[in-house]
Amino acid sequence: MSGTIHFLLNDEEIKTDLAPGTLALDFLRHHLRKTGTKEGCKEGDCGACTVLIGEPAGSEIRYKPVTSCLVPLGELHGKHLVTVEGLNLEHLTMVQDAIVREGASQCGFCTPGIVVSLTAELIEHGNAVDRERIKYALSGNLCRCTGYASLLRAGERIAAAAKEITSEDGQYGRIRQLAAKGVLPDYFLQIPNRLKQIEPLAEIVEQQGAVYIAGGTDLYVQRGDELPGKAVVALNRQSGLRGVSEKDGLIEIGPLTTFEELGQNPILQKHIPEIGDFMRRNASWQIRNRATVGGNIVNASPIGDVTNLLLVLDAELVLTRNGKQRTAPLKNFYRGYKQIDKAEDELITAVRFPVPPPTAKINFEKVSKREYLDIASVNSSIWLVVEDEIIREARVSLGGVAPIPLLLQETTRRMQGQPLRPETVFKALETMPQEIAPISDIRGSAEYKRLLARNLIVAHFIKLFPEQFNLEVFEGVLFSE
Ligand SMILES: Cc1cc2nc3c(=O)[nH]c(=O)nc-3n(C[C@H](O)[C@H](O)[C@H](O)COP(=O)(O)OP(=O)(O)OC[C@H]3O[C@@H](n4cnc5c(N)ncnc54)[C@H](O)[C@@H]3O)c2cc1C
Ligand code: FES
Ligand code: FES
Repeated sequence: MSGTIHFLLNDEEIKTDLAPGTLALDFLRHHLRKTGTKEGCKEGDCGACTVLIGEPAGSEIRYKPVTSCLVPLGELHGKHLVTVEGLNLEHLTMVQDAIVREGASQCGFCTPGIVVSLTAELIEHGNAVDRERIKYALSGNLCRCTGYASLLRAGERIAAAAKEITSEDGQYGRIRQLAAKGVLPDYFLQIPNRLKQIEPLAEIVEQQGAVYIAGGTDLYVQRGDELPGKAVVALNRQSGLRGVSEKDGLIEIGPLTTFEELGQNPILQKHIPEIGDFMRRNASWQIRNRATVGGNIVNASPIGDVTNLLLVLDAELVLTRNGKQRTAPLKNFYRGYKQIDKAEDELITAVRFPVPPPTAKINFEKVSKREYLDIASVNSSIWLVVEDEIIREARVSLGGVAPIPLLLQETTRRMQGQPLRPETVFKALETMPQEIAPISDIRGSAEYKRLLARNLIVAHFIKLFPEQFNLEVFEGVLFSE
């Protein structure tokens, strides 16, 4: 990727020839000395570096909170980057005022990120902001001074103050209202026109020898120091490769679709009604706005959550290289720990799976040390089609119990064609331990993971068929070796 990177930072125009792999956070703090955006963990975990990225969406701009410590500068071309400085007014904003009044800033280090996240929530929901949404909005902001109770009160104060910011009007409509009421600076209103003046850079999808960056949430954590010196392709600058469509009995997902977009997508919600809840269990609001489906598949983590779900959906990948396409079933994509059936310069350009029939029951379970913003110790998904009390189709995946994201073969074979009864599950659970090989690591001992694997399979049945299965049925199987 080459060319001057041209974007808007708050009310300013920025043109830079710095390397596109430079981190947005480093650019802000080291090159521009805009130090309101804080550097904490530099791994996406603390939220101190939260900024808003606004992207053109039709004639308007759509803003999302993200962690600037994982965003490549090159991706910002043609976009609007908003830091905490860019939210300031002559007086305290609604969000700043609520934080001050509730004593919700102690040492203050995390406060800029929190101001940005709460402002993002106000823009996103207007007068529909409530306590639950405040928790959602702050899921990626860590406060070491533990001011959460006061932050929740600040959130409620914001909700009360935002009564007139209507939620019907779409996100940009709310921005207009907030600017008119002096809650956001009014330069926001000129941004759509100003962004139109920026010449687009040529779209480059494939580039020999370059590192492909999607959301960057894995790459920058693993290889953050090398990327500024490398040739990179910021895939997020490409116009396609994003979104969900349904055609000819298949659901197709663009590899750049984010976790947050998966959870909110109407096509997926229609066929997998729990998708929003499944995705909410993963990462934080800021990371879900960046983490992509393609990145989850290619990073080949045995505990990748989206990969775990896609395995039971029987997904296949479309891979492209030099303009030539091939397809590969996801279940055969993993060859060993972090080894995948993909050439270095091959791109995933689509992920697709058959539309689930109405009779399909799908569930996702995950156990992690923290309930939210943590990767799994063990995760599991299930797909079942049951007719006349007989299990006609079964697929079960398990993560964290093998070097690869695992689709169980023998265990599910013991379920197929069998009655939907506890005995069937007991028999399958006898087989399951032979298919897995967990190791002890910081996420738990091998024995603990075996126990989790069994308990998560049981949890699927209790959740999907509460009339036939309950905790008493599984007493003696659960909770013990
Ligand atoms: C704080 C934090 C919390 C997290 N929590 C979770 C969690 O709860 N669950 C979970 O599963 N993961 C989690 N992750 C891991 C990560 O966010 C996900 O794995 C995410 O899906 C990676 O996607 P990405 O777009 O950011 O990948 P990137 O970092 O951009 O890329 C990862 C790899 O994929 C390659 N790649 C990306 N797209 C393509 C493509 N289309 N074709 C070919 N190669 C491609 C890149 O070259 C790179 O090798 C977390 C990460 C962080 C930092
Ligand atoms: S510095 Fe901690 S999330 Fe970016
Ligand atoms: S106020 Fe000190 S870390 Fe949050």
